Amino acid sequence: MSKMLLLLVLLSLLNPAVEALDNGLALKPTMGWLHWERFMCNTDCDTDPDNCISERLYMQMADMMVKDGWREAGYEYVCIDDCWPSHERDAQGRLQADPKRFPGGIKKLADYVHSKGLKLGIYADVGEKTCAGYPGSLGYYETDAQTFADWDVDLLKFDGCNLKWTLLGDGYIKMSKALNKTGRSILYSCEWPLYEWPFQTPNYTAIRETCNHWRNFNDVFDSWISIKSILDWTASHQDSIVPSAGPGGWNDPDMLVIGNFGLSHDQQESQMALWAIMAAPLLMSNDLRDICPRSKELLQNRRIIEISQDPLGKQGYRSAKGNNFEVWERPLSKNRLAVAVLNLQEIGGPRGFAISGVAGWKVCDPQCNVTLILPQYKEMGVQTKESKLILKVNPSGTALLTVTPISKDFGRIHWKDTD
Ligand code: GLA
Repeated sequence: MSKMLLLLVLLSLLNPAVEALDNGLALKPTMGWLHWERFMCNTDCDTDPDNCISERLYMQMADMMVKDGWREAGYEYVCIDDCWPSHERDAQGRLQADPKRFPGGIKKLADYVHSKGLKLGIYADVGEKTCAGYPGSLGYYETDAQTFADWDVDLLKFDGCNLKWTLLGDGYIKMSKALNKTGRSILYSCEWPLYEWPFQTPNYTAIRETCNHWRNFNDVFDSWISIKSILDWTASHQDSIVPSAGPGGWNDPDMLVIGNFGLSHDQQESQMALWAIMAAPLLMSNDLRDICPRSKELLQNRRIIEISQDPLGKQGYRSAKGNNFEVWERPLSKNRLAVAVLNLQEIGGPRGFAISGVAGWKVCDPQCNVTLILPQYKEMGVQTKESKLILKVNPSGTALLTVTPISKDFGRIHWKDTD
């Protein structure tokens, strides 16, 4: 083997992007809105017309996404979850939207969402029925993929209820191929590993080749306990899941619940910071028609979004834990680093944390530039490896910062650039 060929083979082994689902989508973590956590399976349009699962809901969210700067901030997909279809397939065996709640049909809704410069996501299930009991796609993978393509849908969330676990892999792969065969670019969001973990360790190489993102763990709820359990699960499985993330395919810790009822502002900041560190899809599930200004500002914080969307595309991980603090670090492009320090002590006031103790601080040798992003933006200036910088972190809050190395060569400052 020539040296060049050997180098190429080695590079392809090192670069996970090579093995990603090759549909050109999700090169950065998906951003958008998804109805489930906030609106669930509310089909009662007679008494609750503003919150029921209907075309109106998605049209209003699309309107808000344009009007209130969400689209500009990067949020792009408006996604339907469970409970949209009619309980019966049509005479040709195709899924059809509930005629009362979606009188215009999905194609018209897609046109509307596209006219706003946004994309439309839809939901289906690999098994006999969806989790909420609507028709599943088992036996209809090609028909359903073609239907979604005919409707000009841009994303499919494919759930894993009501199928024997041994058939999951086959089903998810078949749907991936069916979507591909339609010729339309449809981002493919899976729940394959979540349904497989109870029985065996999922094959993340196959999952990454099949899906653009994949849920690993339980549904998010609007509570701090839920957020903590997701972070804990992620950290305790990071050795098996972090390497599988990269441009084209991402681990999905589920929706952002920021702007709802259950999280304090500090806890909302923690979710936003840690979802950015985890290179997670940023799919909000909230009511954009009625969201408090602080939550909106947090969700649209361009410095946090930049971390989420960093072109290096590496997922961060928990690097240290102790004294009721957790440190999470994410390598960024240009040798930079994002660091989140989470204060898990839910008693007392803000606690100090000496940042120069974190593993990634070695990029500050000889010097680095530090930008604090949360709890408030502040340029912390040039630091060295001996810096005695103490961060104050609120109970269940997070301090988020970026560290940019500076190397001094020939009297001028330049970025070290390895990506
Ligand atoms: C499962 C999924 C959720 C949601 C519901 C819908 O629980 O994990 O994200 O899609 O089904 O029924």
